[in-house]
Amino acid sequence: MKIVIYGGHGYQGRLVLAELARHDTEIVLAGRNAGRLEAAAAAASRNGTGTVTATRVADSADHDALVAAFRDADAVINCAGPFTPQGAAVARAAVAAGCHYTDTSGEQFHVKEVYDACAADAERAGVRVTPAMTDGGVPGDLLARILAEHLGGGPLEEVLAGHLVTGASGMSRGSLRSLSGTADVLRTGGLAYEKGEWRGDAEPRLTAIDFPGRPGTPVIRFALQEVVTVPRHLDVTRVQGFAEAGLAELFATTVSEEAIAAMPEGPSDEERRGDHWTIVVQAVAQNGRRARASAQGPDTYGTTGVIAALGTLRMNGPAGGRTPAEVLDPAGFLDALAPYGITWTVDG
Ligand SMILES: NC(=O)c1ccc[n+]([C@@H]2O[C@H](COP(=O)([O-])OP(=O)(O)OC[C@H]3O[C@@H](n4cnc5c(N)ncnc54)[C@H](OP(=O)(O)O)[C@@H]3O)[C@@H](O)[C@H]2O)c1
Repeated sequence: MKIVIYGGHGYQGRLVLAELARHDTEIVLAGRNAGRLEAAAAAASRNGTGTVTATRVADSADHDALVAAFRDADAVINCAGPFTPQGAAVARAAVAAGCHYTDTSGEQFHVKEVYDACAADAERAGVRVTPAMTDGGVPGDLLARILAEHLGGGPLEEVLAGHLVTGASGMSRGSLRSLSGTADVLRTGGLAYEKGEWRGDAEPRLTAIDFPGRPGTPVIRFALQEVVTVPRHLDVTRVQGFAEAGLAELFATTVSEEAIAAMPEGPSDEERRGDHWTIVVQAVAQNGRRARASAQGPDTYGTTGVIAALGTLRMNGPAGGRTPAEVLDPAGFLDALAPYGITWTVDG
């Protein structure tokens, strides 16, 4: 499989490259800066973290250049964040080039825009478009599908997803730019889903979540990707996302570009190993039955590297704008993450 990593010389792009290189893939790095692309390809070869067969320069504002950079590939993994300003343009170019598309975005409005803008064209072109192939975007969507089947496969009244991250490794410059660029949305809790519509004014259904080992953790409504993806594949009346209150507050803090530029590119490998993420999904069926599931693991950026790479390699099923649960075998994919320290469970 030939895969283009767009924004492939960034912090997250290099982690995706390192994971892809462990599988039978031909890897092309693309982005807007020739020097940085070549330096990243040379460093990957020197460090033994991947062989890059070509680098291609294409600005995200130049549709024709993007299409030319993607034309002979099977799939594009877009790691060029912040995504809200230009990510959908990269997705459109991938579809125009006849490539499957995934990305490492955590930006809820971008994820929705990609589905809205690309789903019909992707179906016509016979390719799959699945944004948010990340530690934050994939496990919750897969758990929601698993819970729906566990509850009998009928219509659901509610799916509520909650995220918790512990550890102190900090964020990459790219994440800080994405969060700062969308802080206004994050402060409001972003979109929730209610009776066929995505809206910004939903009353939060929870104030606390029992995370494994952290019962009664305070949460606030947050702009999670599951709010966009779950209603696309489940018959559900209401979907809301939550984050642990301290994390949500941190994520919604604006950091100046000067301060971001002065920070390290991202946490070191060792720092990242001290992080731990947990996702809890609670579902209620229309017949009143309830169930909960959770997934957890280490190293949010390392996990995103693995999920973006393996998710893109394993995508299957019908063309179009497809959520993780539509293109991956939910339990099979979560099980495949076990060697990376990721566990999951359905609590009944
Ligand atoms: N769970 C999650 O939600 C999750 C997890 C991990 C990562 N992420 C997201 O992944 C993204 C990347 O993070 P990172 O740490 O890798 O950032 P980074 O180190 O700053 O890398 C960003 C990359 O994107 C490129 N880029 C930025 N703006 C561009 C534009 N307008 N046109 C073309 N290329 C552009 C940069 O190229 P230049 O060098 O030319 O600027 C660079 O290659 C962030 O948005 C982050 O939030 C999300």
